[in-house]
This record gives sequence, structure tokens and C-alpha cells, in this order.
Amino acid sequence: MQDAQLVSVAQALISAWVPVTLALTLAVALSLYHCVERKPVDIDPSMDIDYFMLSGAPLPRPLPDFDLDRAKPRPYRPFRWRYHQTMALAPLEHDWWIELESTYKFRVNQRQYLYTKHGSAVLQSMPGSEAACKEMMYMVIQFLCARYPNHFQFDKNTCGFTNRILGTSDDIDTVHPLQFLLNNVPEDFLVTQKDPGTGEYFLRAAVCCSAIGFNMTGKMGRPLREIHGPVPDYEWKLKTSVDKFFDRMPVEKPIQRGSWSFEVGQPLYLQANDPEYMEHKRENPNLRIEDVYLRIDWQTLRRLPQSKAILFNFKALFTPVTQLQEEPYIPQLILKVLKEGPASIKKYKGWSHLEHRLLPALEVYARDQVSRGLVPEGWQERTLDEQPFFPGWQSVSG
Ligand code: HEM
Repeated sequence: MQDAQLVSVAQALISAWVPVTLALTLAVALSLYHCVERKPVDIDPSMDIDYFMLSGAPLPRPLPDFDLDRAKPRPYRPFRWRYHQTMALAPLEHDWWIELESTYKFRVNQRQYLYTKHGSAVLQSMPGSEAACKEMMYMVIQFLCARYPNHFQFDKNTCGFTNRILGTSDDIDTVHPLQFLLNNVPEDFLVTQKDPGTGEYFLRAAVCCSAIGFNMTGKMGRPLREIHGPVPDYEWKLKTSVDKFFDRMPVEKPIQRGSWSFEVGQPLYLQANDPEYMEHKRENPNLRIEDVYLRIDWQTLRRLPQSKAILFNFKALFTPVTQLQEEPYIPQLILKVLKEGPASIKKYKGWSHLEHRLLPALEVYARDQVSRGLVPEGWQERTLDEQPFFPGWQSVSG
């Protein structure tokens, strides 16, 4: 049986109300089949398909009373010690694939402005990615409507998607999926597809506004190994494991990981030739610690169940460094990584221009946490059990 026929059989069973477990089993078997075969599939994405059922990954639990204005992002702190340059992957917490919080409107506006200003450097796609892009949009819509039912609705009869936060609607038959994402989700979405000839995964479509020092013009159409060219040690430490991981990644097991850096202010998009970029990287003796932010790029990866493309999406979250004084163990752990982590990582992440202010502040916070009894005297730095969070993190999240 051809892949497309198998997809139709599963859809037919699901829509004919074959018991859920049976349909689910079939869907999982189907997705494993796809994973093993990896043939190009003649697919026809549609909102009639339940993409979560098809993938075997659950839909999120609904938050019917979700209050966007009061929602804070979860305080991701993906710091590890000993520091090893590994893939550092964890299973995705399904409810949290797309996490909305109180900066939603500001970020959507900011991202639309960046697109108006930089065009294809932040949003572009290549021929052959159309079906994967549609599938991605449908999956995002199904997630948003299930998770935040008071904010988003989809009408099957009109194909209209309503965003009650912004008071907008999109006809999903006519809108480009990347434009839809730009207008409704303040996250970056990058679609990679396997080249049947080389077996490598290439970037084929993206909306990506959270980019310091790179952009989509330089990355589009390139394989993962070239995309990661500037990342220290990628070629010899990460390339083989990332390639293997991509090849084997099952549809029902999406994953999450975090990347971190420190910035002055909250720059989302900066290019090396911007005058602002030089200013941003300049050491300023008068820098105030209040102006230094921890930036976390919280990332997820999932294989799309129909097209088999791998979707990489992430959001940039900024936290004032001053807030870390209330987060047990985090200042001391960060100090260890900053002081004793590999020099190549320090150069790539580029924080030397602010360490004259950052390190002394973290030292004060770490000593203060010991004197307040939040951290035991003589604690030896190690990856926390609560990683990517910290003990008591719920009290600082919304
Ligand atoms: C298991 C999958 C992946 C791993 C382990 C990984 C790892 C990394 C690491 C270690 C960095 C350096 C920043 C950091 O500390 O995190 C990085 C940067 C980056 N990654 Fe990935 N990555 C993965 C997947 C992807 C995918 C699918 C894409 C896009 C198609 C991507 C695009 C990028 C880009 C654009 C950068 C910035 C590179 C630059 O500075 O020019 N990554 N990645």
C-alpha cells in the first residue's frame, strides 16, 4: 500500500469513529511506518485530519480560563554542570508546545514590524515546502484552539481562524502559513526536510525573527551542518548525534531544549552590520546590572506526521539578571558555567563585554542566598534535579 493510501485509511477510520485506541494504534503504526520508509509522500494536508491523533502525541489540556495579561513564561534555566556540549534534549511537555504569556501583543507587533523592515531575511520558503508548511499551520491551529479555547476558534465551514486577543481573523485557505504564524504566534518556526539524495536535512521554510548575528537569507536551503557552521565544536561533537537523531526521530516523541545567553537590553533581531550591533557588543564601564538580561531561547523539535518534515520552533524569553537573586542555586550555577565553561563557548555566546558587571552581581546574589538559607553553605555546583527549573520555581511563574 502507498503512503498516501495509508494516510487516507487512518483518516477514514478516525472520522468513522473507530474506537479511539484502535485508531490511535493504527496512527502510531502508520507514523512508525513512515519513519522507517521515509519515502517522499504525496500528501494533502487538511484541517479534517486530527494531526495529534495521527502523530500519537496528545493534544494539550485546555486552559479555559487562561488570563493572558497575567501569564508569565515559565522560568526556564537550562544550565548544567559539568558543562558538556551535548544535544541536551528532553521529552517535550505536550501541554507547553506553544506557551502564550503577557508579552504576546507586543511581540506579535514587533515581529510584524521586523518582517516589514527585513522581508525575506526573516520570512521565506522554498518550492517543495508547501505541504509541510500547511501541515505545520494546521497543527498549530489545532493546538491553539485546544489549549486556549477562550482566545482562538476555528470554523470548519468558513475555514476562518479567529484570534480574539487581537480581534483578527484569517482565511486559512488563502493565507500563507508563514504569514499566518507571524500574525498569530510570537515564536519562530523553521521547517527542515530530508534531501533524498544526500540523506541530510535542509532548511526549506522559516519565519525567524529571534536572530542575533544570523538571518534566514544566510541559512535557507542549507543543511544542518552548514547552518551550525559558527557553533563551536558542532562539527566534531554534535554533528553526528544531531544527524542520527533527525533520521530516527519518531513522530510521537517531540523534544525540547534550551539555549541561553546574556544581553544588554532585550534585542530580538540584530545583524553584524547594524551600527546597533557594535554598540550592543561594546564594553561600557557605566553599564548598570539592571540593564543586563538573561536570554533563553526555548526550543522544541517535532516530526510532522504527514510530510515527515522536522519542525523546529522556539521563542526568546528575557529575564532581568536582578531577578535571579530570588532563584535558589541559579546565580552560583551560572557563575560556575561562566567562569569554568569552555572558552570557545564564551567567545561564541559573546558575554565578555558585560562580565565586569555580571560576575560581581552574581557573586553577591550567590552569597546572599547562602546567608538567607536558600542554598546550603559549601554547595557543590551540579545540574539541578528540577532542571530546566529550580526549587520553588512555581512561585515565580504565572
Ligand atoms: C537536536 C537538534 C539541534 C541541536 C542539538 C542544536 C544545537 C545548537 C547549538 C548548541 C547552537 C549554539 C547555541 C546554543 O548554545 O544553543 C545552535 C545554534 C543554532 N541552531 Fe541549532 N541545534 C539543533 C537543531 C537546529 C535546527 C533544526 C535548526 C534550524 C533549521 C537550527 C538552527 C540553529 C541556528 C540558526 C543557530 C545559530 C547559528 C549561528 O550563530 O549562526 N538548529 N544550535
